[in-house]
Amino acid sequence: MAREILVSGASRGLGYCIASSYLKAGESVHMIVRKRTDAVDELENTYPMCHVYLGDVGSDAAIQDALSKLREKVEVFDLIYNVAGIFWEKDRKGLTYLDIDEMADMMNVNAFGALRILKGLAGQIKEQTRIVNISSESGSLTNCEERGMYSYCMSKAALNMATRQYVREHGDRRNIITVCPGWMRTDMGGAQADLDPMFSAGEIIRLAEHMDELEEGALFFKYDGRKLPW
Ligand SMILES: NC(=O)c1ccc[n+]([C@@H]2O[C@H](COP(=O)([O-])OP(=O)(O)OC[C@H]3O[C@@H](n4cnc5c(N)ncnc54)[C@H](OP(=O)(O)O)[C@@H]3O)[C@@H](O)[C@H]2O)c1
Repeated sequence: MAREILVSGASRGLGYCIASSYLKAGESVHMIVRKRTDAVDELENTYPMCHVYLGDVGSDAAIQDALSKLREKVEVFDLIYNVAGIFWEKDRKGLTYLDIDEMADMMNVNAFGALRILKGLAGQIKEQTRIVNISSESGSLTNCEERGMYSYCMSKAALNMATRQYVREHGDRRNIITVCPGWMRTDMGGAQADLDPMFSAGEIIRLAEHMDELEEGALFFKYDGRKLPW
């Protein structure tokens, strides 16, 4: 029987690769996208078990409709991939040029977006549900090598803490991880990046499918399964 998989940020990049991989494998995939694209329409036309929901994880109001449709449609999710994320090139310019009020927009998507989904679908998250939050090594307090990139790095560090808090709240149950997908050739990563997003998608799916085998107590991983420090 097909499993129920949710992917946010599925219109392009890593989210699209994860969603299309599961569709090809015959699973039932629920894609949250901000807008329809030809690629999304093509998936929907090709795979009867492709379900598309319009929603923006960046605010409670903009995601409510998608969440209520998902609650009606799905009893229990097997896997949830929180992939939706944003990055601004201008974030590289340091504190002098930082618009601190505007940083809230990035926190809203990169850190709070996953929480909106986990909160809104709490009734559809059961013992078997596995959750993957897509973070970044830039959100590691120890490993981050960026300089003056406040918004993005802080938002991913906050997503990591959200993951930790979720685990603490739910009795340290091993059903959620936060994963850095590596530097990928997507709109966000650019053409010079190291990795094909389909490769990262495959590695992350492998981690999610073998979550029980990951190091006990560890939550933050690189796409290849290496544990990352907070
Ligand atoms: N690329 C990298 O090298 C890299 C490295 C480390 C971590 N990551 C993380 O990996 C994830 C995927 O990145 P990517 O490279 O695939 O990025 P991407 O190509 O820019 O795609 C981002 C996806 O997120 C969606 N999205 C953005 N804001 C959203 C919102 N408010 N609500 C719903 N969907 C939203 C976009 O939808 P629209 O089409 O509507 O904009 C798009 O589908 C992100 O969380 C990113 O931070 C990426």
